[in-house]
Amino acid sequence: MQTQGIASAKFILCGEHSVVYGEPAISFPFKQARIITTLKEIEGSEHQLISDFYTGTLSQAPEKLTAVKALIPHILKRYQCHSVLEITIDSSVPVGRGLGSSAVVATSITRAMLAFLKRPVISSNVLPFVNFSEDIAHGNPSGVDAITVVNEQAVWFEKEKGLQSLSLNLTLPIVVADTGIPSETRASVAAVRDLYQKNNIEVSACISQLGEISREIGKEITTHGDLHTVGDLFNQAHQLLCKLSVSSPEIENLITCALDNQALGAKLTGGGRGGCVIVLCKDKQHAQKMATQLSAAGAIKTWISMIGE
Ligand code: PMV
Repeated sequence: MQTQGIASAKFILCGEHSVVYGEPAISFPFKQARIITTLKEIEGSEHQLISDFYTGTLSQAPEKLTAVKALIPHILKRYQCHSVLEITIDSSVPVGRGLGSSAVVATSITRAMLAFLKRPVISSNVLPFVNFSEDIAHGNPSGVDAITVVNEQAVWFEKEKGLQSLSLNLTLPIVVADTGIPSETRASVAAVRDLYQKNNIEVSACISQLGEISREIGKEITTHGDLHTVGDLFNQAHQLLCKLSVSSPEIENLITCALDNQALGAKLTGGGRGGCVIVLCKDKQHAQKMATQLSAAGAIKTWISMIGE
């Protein structure tokens, strides 16, 4: 028997980093990048993993796959299954670019495994396993990635309150552009925590302002708001994220290119220090031109996402 699990990427519109400190974040599923996991039972004594990143026995997989290595036996043990599996991971989600690759791989594996185990593939069954995997991948994640990827809907997320779904009343023409530089979420979260400990008053103020920006963006996008206002809020959020030390020269290069080409606003998305930027454009045509400009400025890949259309 062969089963499959599919999961799409996500991007954070606003609230990265401040969400770790209890402020709200808004994030969206990002369907253009996804992972398909295929499972089948095999003879032998060791699970086998097949992926672009690594092919071989699961037990010998490199450190970067520690969360995957732990997740598969964890699920099998939970359902007292002793099968030996071949796990094939087919991914178009760039790793470590702030698009939630670790949550996406965990979700696609969990879905494939629940189907294999003949259990209902529903969010309430999937999420605890994805959170288990994310704890290993990121240390102490806020949970925004896992909840967005598993629920596949626009999300308003607060650490203590969990998920609220968002209904958009404004179409956001967004270009997502990849700097090509890996973003280490664990390291950037640790760097912000370091700053917070050293300079509590200033960093707390930044975090509260980021929270306020998320609330304002939330209001704009759910109440027929104004794209220009959302763009200004993007720019303000990006400046605050720079103060938190999570930008990089490659991110700044793409932000400058976006603003030089009449972006309504631009900011980094996800952990930062690499990874992707999101650029708010006037309409689809502007987004198409923007994508070309960003590629010419060095983005290794761009995607256009008409959020809320
Ligand atoms: O870089 P990503 O896609 O894993 O996003 C992380 C978002 C942070 O707020 C920086 C961390 C977190 O746990 O919420």
